[in-house]
Amino acid sequence: LLLASGLAGLAAMGVAVPAQAARPELLLRFSHVVAAGTPKGQMALHFQRLVAQRSAGRIRVEVYPDSQLYGDEDELEALKLGAVELLAPSLSKFGQAGLPEFEVFDLPFLFDDLAQVRRVTQGPVGRRLLERLAHQQMVGLGFMDGSFKQMSANRPLRAPADFKGLRLRVQASRVLVAQMRALGAEPVVLPFGETRRALARRVVDGAENPLANFLTQGLQAVQTDLTLTRHGYLGYAVVSHPRFWDSLSAADRALLRQALAESLAFGNRLSAELDRQALAQVLDLPRLRVHALSLPERAALQRTAQAVQQNFEQRVGHGLLAEVRGAIA
Ligand code: LMR
Repeated sequence: LLLASGLAGLAAMGVAVPAQAARPELLLRFSHVVAAGTPKGQMALHFQRLVAQRSAGRIRVEVYPDSQLYGDEDELEALKLGAVELLAPSLSKFGQAGLPEFEVFDLPFLFDDLAQVRRVTQGPVGRRLLERLAHQQMVGLGFMDGSFKQMSANRPLRAPADFKGLRLRVQASRVLVAQMRALGAEPVVLPFGETRRALARRVVDGAENPLANFLTQGLQAVQTDLTLTRHGYLGYAVVSHPRFWDSLSAADRALLRQALAESLAFGNRLSAELDRQALAQVLDLPRLRVHALSLPERAALQRTAQAVQQNFEQRVGHGLLAEVRGAIA
């Protein structure tokens, strides 16, 4: 009987029930596709800790890294079905969800550094983009930086001629597909969780990744060469579903928003720091050849990829692209 009535029964009998033993009243399942040790993985765990502390265990965040629960191909559907409450997909993944303007962040060589990106994501353009997520039944809760991507393959990728004939994995973004074609490669769209195996089996020859993803996926074991191209940005938006979000009390929404804002700031600091550490780490790997580009080499890749910016003005929107360029000028 005591077991059946549980803690509520104990409390009714006048037995003090410690706060930490309280069963969570609210559960948020937070699914993502990268390793727990990446900046995104650490941000999610930081959020989990803050929410546990500030709600005294009343709200629990369960974090599922590494595509354990859902991968790129089904996570947005899972959010719509109510099987998860929070996701942090890369911005490249919103285009296929009917929001092509998010692919502006994929345009190669558009941003020079993270400070430029933040002027966009943390300003009026970013606010409007987060609001746009409502058109696809999502609540946009904030942006976070991954970092700049580098190219890997089993050969150096210094010049457009080096890309010829290579099958390179990309996320499901039309801009990224066009970028690889412009460089002369054959793009292959694959979920993140399948990339390492596809590289190991030589289904694809190479990929583009920030260093944190390259290292935590162990891609140094399946690629011989890493070229420091820094050709494009990878970032994230944290999203929930309006059905879930609107069901929360105003106080819980405020608690979650505040904890998330702090976690995203923490994640951004970590992204920059881990990227620096990862560079030192890849340079130390005995079997990985790391290539730095000379300025003329980088300029030649940039010229080749530049056509993508013109071709995609319409898809991402002339007005939006002009605003982004204005914010970073
Ligand atoms: C990718 O698919 O390459 C990235 O979006 C993975 C990630 O979430 O960092």
